[in-house]
Amino acid sequence: MSTVTKIPHDVKDLALADAGRLRIEWADQFMPTLATIRKRFAKEQPLRGIRVAACLHVTTETANLILTLQQGGAQAVLCASNPLSTQNDVAACLVRDYNIPVYAIKGENHDTYYSHLDATLQSRPHFTMDDGADLVTLAHTQRSDLAGDIRAGTEETTTGVIRLRSMAEQKVLRYPIIAVNDADTKHMFDNRYGTGQSTLDGIMRATNVLIAGLRVVVAGYGWCGRGIAMRAHGLGANVIVTEVNPTRALEAVMDGYQVMTMPEAAQAGDLFISATGNKSVLAREHFERMKDGALLANSGHFNVEIDIPALEKMAASRRTMREFVEEFRMADGRRIYLLAEGRLVNLSSAEGHPASVMDMSFANQALCAEYLAKNAGQLEKKVYPVPEEIDRTVARIKLEAMRVHIDRLSPEQEKYLASWNEGT
Ligand code: ADE
Repeated sequence: MSTVTKIPHDVKDLALADAGRLRIEWADQFMPTLATIRKRFAKEQPLRGIRVAACLHVTTETANLILTLQQGGAQAVLCASNPLSTQNDVAACLVRDYNIPVYAIKGENHDTYYSHLDATLQSRPHFTMDDGADLVTLAHTQRSDLAGDIRAGTEETTTGVIRLRSMAEQKVLRYPIIAVNDADTKHMFDNRYGTGQSTLDGIMRATNVLIAGLRVVVAGYGWCGRGIAMRAHGLGANVIVTEVNPTRALEAVMDGYQVMTMPEAAQAGDLFISATGNKSVLAREHFERMKDGALLANSGHFNVEIDIPALEKMAASRRTMREFVEEFRMADGRRIYLLAEGRLVNLSSAEGHPASVMDMSFANQALCAEYLAKNAGQLEKKVYPVPEEIDRTVARIKLEAMRVHIDRLSPEQEKYLASWNEGT
């Protein structure tokens, strides 16, 4: 295959495309829901003529989503939603073999990251497909001049949805967005089982530590935190949860975990994993109390959960021990290890969520794009939930692919559920 392309792009090396092609095909085997949608899209062309600017983690799973949009008639342009999550071989393959303009290089710096978002917006998209809301933010701020054609968008992750709701509340949101994250078939699976497995995978690949017997502190008991705690427990860790929400804290207690404040947990933990969506969850007052050898990892969307500037200030020296593991030596001799520069550990030092869970998330994305192609004109400048019919459809196709059959209500049962007068 030729390595010469006229497609605009900025990727690490087009020669990596062969490896990317095989890995994309491998992931596709585990994405039957998306494959079913792709086949229908190829026939029906629901996205014909629509320009989509996607700002997502550039992975094998994302590649299969982008190819589904392309099969549906869309012209997609892709950039990375995180500087460290790009799989360079995938980026190369999408450019060389599928003519998709891609702007993403693993390890890109802040300026390159934003220049890639900018290049993506220069395609003058009709839809944005964002993961974390950086692209939408850019289209509402410095590059609002490029946002004139945007009709609607979708958002993949909890952090992005929070930012967009804040924009809607402040009445600055300029177009409707569907919160894909909030679909049951997204967050109940992707955030819990996906983040649970891939976070532990990232930590183990980065460090090769034995999880059994470690005291693992999980900050945040949302869907991601629940998944991380569950998988750490499954690997033999003693799990401690920290929370600010009393209901979630109670749930963690009744799920069998120890719950305490972070200052208390800081003294006890061997491995700290943040999944809160908030900043400075691990900060100076915690670093001061940590044991020698404490490991710090983040699984939240942004690299603000661990106060890295504070850690840097406290350190007498630092060195890279192995890829994705940096040692900070305190003046008193204690060593604290930061994994993956405090960025999403699951996508930085591993490959993100497995394909079979992204199958459902990205099936929601594809069906929401189709929905927006039909309905964007009728929507207000708000954040919308995923239509229930789409959520159900994704669950139904996934179950069919897994050859799992479920019962149906009988007519009498339906009638019973709709009535009130039959009691004891
Ligand atoms: N977010 C988490 N895991 C992912 C993956 N494998 N691909 C794209 N986005 C992700």
